[in-house]
Amino acid sequence: MSGLELHDILLTFPEGTRRRTILDIPSCTVASGECVALAGASGSGKSTLLNLISGLILPDRGTVRWNGFAPGELPEPRRDVWRGRHIGFVFQDFQLFPELEALENVLLPVTFNRWSIPEALRRRGQALLKRMNVAPSQKARLLSRGEKQRVAIARAVLQEPEILLADEPTASLDAANAAEVTDLLLSHARTLGSTLLIVSHDEEVWTRMDRVLSLRRGRLYEAAETAFPPSAA
Ligand SMILES: Nc1ncnc2c1ncn2[C@@H]1O[C@H](COP(=O)(O)OP(=O)(O)OP(=O)(O)O)[C@@H](O)[C@H]1O
Ligand SMILES: [Mg+2]
Repeated sequence: MSGLELHDILLTFPEGTRRRTILDIPSCTVASGECVALAGASGSGKSTLLNLISGLILPDRGTVRWNGFAPGELPEPRRDVWRGRHIGFVFQDFQLFPELEALENVLLPVTFNRWSIPEALRRRGQALLKRMNVAPSQKARLLSRGEKQRVAIARAVLQEPEILLADEPTASLDAANAAEVTDLLLSHARTLGSTLLIVSHDEEVWTRMDRVLSLRRGRLYEAAETAFPPSAA
């Protein structure tokens, strides 16, 4: 199938001498190009699920497939290369390098799997920042919260990924900035045909997505199957 498939997933984390189940997902599919919001209470495992989908962590059991391919079966260095090619990740805490300029932050992932930065990508990075109203040469530590979030989005979409994962990208932004960030993510996903998974508590975000999934006690539900709002435990 084309898109994302989770099959028979069990993921546990150590807790004292025991292990705690964080994700227990018999089956879930997200079609290629679908835009999905992921809701759930704090600590319900939303960030863990994004990390699992991107191959940053592996499950105790089960498989994650993208277009029928299971990146979890690759050895780690090749999994990192796979992630760089296929996934754009907007992290919960931006993960910008404060002393690097905005454009340097946007271009950083390119330097992980290439010797030099192709001129076309440098130009695309500059154009993205310009469109997002961020000065390319400004040091990341001097940027406002909204600007940092836009730099993180520019970095995630730079290489036109098939999968765009964003972890609470509108959290602690004012309504205008939050709406702009949602616009940016959606318009890039729709233009590139990317599958978008966006962790969000924001009803404004849910209403704009094709679908809302909700995590509760390790299980993933369609929002329609849960009491509304989906984040209520
Ligand atoms: N490496 C780890 N080792 C042990 N426990 C972990 C680890 N990473 C996360 N956890 C635990 O797993 C649970 C899920 O964490 P996660 O960060 O995925 O939650 P979340 O839904 O993203 O929460 P939030 O909305 O606060 O960001 C939490 O109880 C957390 O403490
Ligand atoms: Mg989280």
